[in-house]
Amino acid sequence: MDATARHLRLLTDTIAAVNSSLDLQEVLELVARNVADALGTDACFVYLYDQRANELVLRATHGSRVEEMTRTPRMRPGDGITGVAAADRAPVMIPAQAHLDPRFKLFPNLPEDEYESILAVPILARDKLEGALNVRTRQPREFSEAEIELLVAIASQVAQTIEHAQLYAGAQRRVVELEALAKISEAVSESLYLEESLEAIVRTTMESLRATGAALVLEDGKIAWPEGRPGAYAVRMPLRWKRRQIGELVCDRDTPFSSDEEALLEAIAHHAAVALEHGRAVMRGVLAQEIHHRVKNNLQAVASLLRLQARAENVDPHKALQDSVNRILTIAAVHEVLTEHREDDVDLGELVDRLRAMLVQGLVAGKEVTAELAPVSLAGQQATALALVFTELFQNALEHGGAHVSILLARRDGAIALTIVDDGEGMRGEETGTGLSIVRALVHDELRGKIELADNGGFRAEVVFPA
Ligand SMILES: Nc1ncnc2c1ncn2[C@@H]1O[C@H](COP(=O)(O)OP(=O)(O)O)[C@@H](O)[C@H]1O
Ligand SMILES: [Mg+2]
Repeated sequence: MDATARHLRLLTDTIAAVNSSLDLQEVLELVARNVADALGTDACFVYLYDQRANELVLRATHGSRVEEMTRTPRMRPGDGITGVAAADRAPVMIPAQAHLDPRFKLFPNLPEDEYESILAVPILARDKLEGALNVRTRQPREFSEAEIELLVAIASQVAQTIEHAQLYAGAQRRVVELEALAKISEAVSESLYLEESLEAIVRTTMESLRATGAALVLEDGKIAWPEGRPGAYAVRMPLRWKRRQIGELVCDRDTPFSSDEEALLEAIAHHAAVALEHGRAVMRGVLAQEIHHRVKNNLQAVASLLRLQARAENVDPHKALQDSVNRILTIAAVHEVLTEHREDDVDLGELVDRLRAMLVQGLVAGKEVTAELAPVSLAGQQATALALVFTELFQNALEHGGAHVSILLARRDGAIALTIVDDGEGMRGEETGTGLSIVRALVHDELRGKIELADNGGFRAEVVFPA
C-alpha cells in the first residue's frame, strides 16, 4: 500500500470510528489508537478544549500513559507546543529534540521528553477551537506535507464528533432536567398540601441526581422532609424568593457534583422556592376564606339566636342575657376546636367536655355529672347545631333538674344519639321556652333528626339524628 492509499484508509477508518459512537471518550480513544497505528508513530495525545477554564485537557493517549494518581495534564492555549498549535490554529512540527524547543512544556507525569519528534494540530470545528492533538516518535522524524494535511483532516473529523457528542450530551441533560422539573411541577400542582409538594421536590432531587440524601432546610432552621443519608459530597442551594433567602435545598452524594448537576439543583431549588411561597399563599388564602366563612355563619347564628330570645315574653332579662352569653360561648367553643385542629370535623367528645366545663363553672356545688361519650365527629355546621342543643339541654338539667346528670353520646344504627338525663322532678306539663324552641328548631332544620322529651322519674331528653 502506498502512502496515499494508507492515508485515505486512515481517514475512512477515522470517520467510521468517529461515527460509531456518541460517547466522546470512546471516540477519542479510538482516534488516538488509529492515528498512532496508521501514521506509525509511537504515541498520540488528544486534548479537549475546556472553554470555561480556557484550558486544553488531555483526554486520550495511545502508546504512552499518564502516570496514575496525578493530575490530568492541562494547559492554556499558547502553552507548550500543542498549546501553540491550538492558539495559532495551525500545525506545529518539530522533527527532532522537541523537548529543547523553547515552546516545550514538561508535565511531571507525562514522559514526553522521551520523544524526539512532534506533530501537533488544532482541532477546529469551523472556527471554534475544540481541542488539539499530536503524534510523537522516539526517533527523529520529519513529517511530510501529506502527513500534516492528513492529521489536519482527521482533526476536523474529530471536531465534528466533539460537537455532536456535546450536542447529544447537552440534549440528554436537558431531557433529564426537564423530566425532573416536569415531575416537580406536576406534584406541586396536584398536591393540596404544601408538605406533599416539598416531599415531591426532595424525592425528585434524589432521583434525578442519584443522591444518597436530600432535604429542604427552611428559614426557621427546621430540617424538612429529610430523606436518605449523608454522602461524601454535599451541595447546598439557597431557595430564593424576591431576592430573599427562604431556605436551602441540600443534596448529598458519594460522588462529586458536575457543574451541570449543580445547574439542575439550582433549577430545582428555584422550583422549590416557588412551590413554598405559592403553597404558603394558597394556605393563607384558603385558611382566610374558610375562617371568614365560618365567622360569617357564626355571626348569623348569633343574630338569629338573639332575635329568638328577644321575642320571648315574660322572661327575666338577667337570665335572658345569661342564656344568650352561653349560646355565644358555645358557638365560640366550636369555632375554637375547628381552628385549633385545622380540620373540617369536630370530635364531639372533646366538644362536649369543653362545653360541660364551661357551663358547670360558677354553679352551686352538689351537682354530679357523669358522661359516656363515644368517639363521634361532625362537620362544622352540624357540630355547631349539636353544641347549641347540648348547651340548652344540659343547662336545663343543671337549672331545672336534679342533683345527678348523665350525658350519653352514642352511635346507633348509623345514627347519632345524644341523651341527657337528670333525676329531678321531671316534666310538669307542656315544656316551652326559648331554650327548648331553639333545640327543636336546630334538631329539625340543621340535624334533620328527632327529639323526644320523656318523664322517667326525672327528665330525659334524647336527640337522634343521621350521622
Ligand atoms: N331538665 C329539666 N327538668 C325539669 N324541667 C325542665 C327541664 N328542662 C326543661 N324544663 C322545663 O321546661 C321549661 C322550658 O325550658 P327552656 O325552653 O330551656 O326555657 P328556660 O330554661 O329558659 O326556662 C323550663 O322552664 C322548665 O320548666
Ligand atoms: Mg333552658
